[in-house]
Amino acid sequence: MTEIPEHLLKRSREARGSTADEPTEKAADPASTAGSASVPAAAEAPSVPEPAEPTPSAPAAPYNAAATGRKKIPWWAASTLILLPIWAITYVGTLERPPESGSAGLLADGAHVYEASCAACHGAGGEGGAGPAMTEDEMLATFPTPAEHIVWVVSGSTGVGLGNPYGDEATGRVVAGGMPGFGAALTTEELIGVVLYERAHLSHSEFDESLAEAMDEAIHSGDMDLEGHLDPETVTVDEVLNLLRSASFGTDDQLATG
Ligand code: HEC
Repeated sequence: MTEIPEHLLKRSREARGSTADEPTEKAADPASTAGSASVPAAAEAPSVPEPAEPTPSAPAAPYNAAATGRKKIPWWAASTLILLPIWAITYVGTLERPPESGSAGLLADGAHVYEASCAACHGAGGEGGAGPAMTEDEMLATFPTPAEHIVWVVSGSTGVGLGNPYGDEATGRVVAGGMPGFGAALTTEELIGVVLYERAHLSHSEFDESLAEAMDEAIHSGDMDLEGHLDPETVTVDEVLNLLRSASFGTDDQLATG
């Protein structure tokens, strides 16, 4: 410490004074400023030409030459790159749509099932044919609630038995035969889908439209499981009612009669 020459200490003080706000010391001692100016000049003098000489050689370094020599990104490529994240966000947005259309899934699937399995006998628009029409009065009068409707489509004419009454007593429906049971042919999801489609779209029941939406949500959240089949031999209104309850929509009276 003691070996540090006095002029260097002064210089360092000067340097600190010049970076901080101490112009007074500098101004008060012009001699030292001159001295200190000459010392760094002497000390830095060799260092100035030294970097000056390697500097021209620096661009010649391969990495520098590559950096300066390579072509710059063209303006159109740069703007394409800037738009890339916007495109990516939009693209991800389109990927999220399938679950949305899946939430309209039960009725959409039901429409396909109807076309493939029911339209031949009941008419493409539910106007009837070999089977009864599905106009608002007929359908919702026969089955005021969805649970009995579902059980009927699971078991069909033979399941209920020829000559037996079916549906709401007031309509006086008696099984004449000809309606197949679909419990084995359709999954529970397809079968409930086609019944809700008949009720909501062919018979314009708003309750069943909303029930289908609630069921789609329950299926997606895992609260409702419509895998597998409803067994025509054993199916009951209570079993179907229990299934429909997991959608947490409507009262038992709205879902099943009696
Ligand atoms: C082979 C012809 C045929 C097919 C296919 C058919 N049905 Fe039927 N359906 C009938 C007949 C016939 C009746 C009347 C039943 C009876 O009297 O035994 C009927 C009755 C019904 C009823 C009761 C209507 C009422 O007001 O009495 C419903 C609901 C029904 N069918 C739904 C369906 C659904 C859903 C499908 C497709 C998954 C379907 N049917 C496919 C012939 C058919």
